[in-house]
Amino acid sequence: MIGIIAAMNVEMEGLRAHMENPVSETVSGVTFVRGTIAGREVVTAVCGIGKVFAALCAQTMILRYAPEAVINTGVAGTLTNELTIGNLAVSSCVVQHDMDTSAIGDPVGLISGINKIEIPADRTLIRRLCAAAQAIGVRALTGCIASGDQFVASPGRKTFITDTFSAIACEMEGAAVGQVCYVNQVPFCVLRAISDSADGSSHMDYPVFAQMAAEQSVRLLLTFLQG
Ligand code: ADE
Repeated sequence: MIGIIAAMNVEMEGLRAHMENPVSETVSGVTFVRGTIAGREVVTAVCGIGKVFAALCAQTMILRYAPEAVINTGVAGTLTNELTIGNLAVSSCVVQHDMDTSAIGDPVGLISGINKIEIPADRTLIRRLCAAAQAIGVRALTGCIASGDQFVASPGRKTFITDTFSAIACEMEGAAVGQVCYVNQVPFCVLRAISDSADGSSHMDYPVFAQMAAEQSVRLLLTFLQG
């Protein structure tokens, strides 16, 4: 069974429309919908926005459904000129750009409990997601995806994240899902469609672009699940 987590309904509803024999269950305030998509067993959840909700959801999903892998999907802001609205970012690793214990001598971004800044995503998932992107003719770039509890919408914050972590996209959940999967030894990957420029210049159009971008990640996941 593959676990698929999105933060918002708009990022999940297109995928759930393809689900057969759905069975819902709510645990710890998260509704998990289990069923088959393209003949594959999946469990899906809309976790809510931010790292705490994402972690809570991922841990509950792992304990309750024991997925063989977890994919966090949805939309993200771009951190590179190589990714524009509608393109896809596939995580090679995830970082938490708002994790900072540098005042006591750690490097910025260090998650001290596991002594890592970057949490690596699963190579097989990366390869299969990129292959699915190629199959549907959507541009996908693999690189580090940065998560934090803030909607990035200023050139200053964008530059900080790019300079500190060389990340290609920013969002608010992927690294929390990644950390939970890492400590539980569950393969994971983050797949995000670009919805905005993360510098404040396009965020007024965010709802429109987010809807469009979410449809791209749904298309890709359907192809991935068919493969
Ligand atoms: N999700 C989509 N765009 C984002 C941004 N600019 N910052 C954080 N999360 C996002």
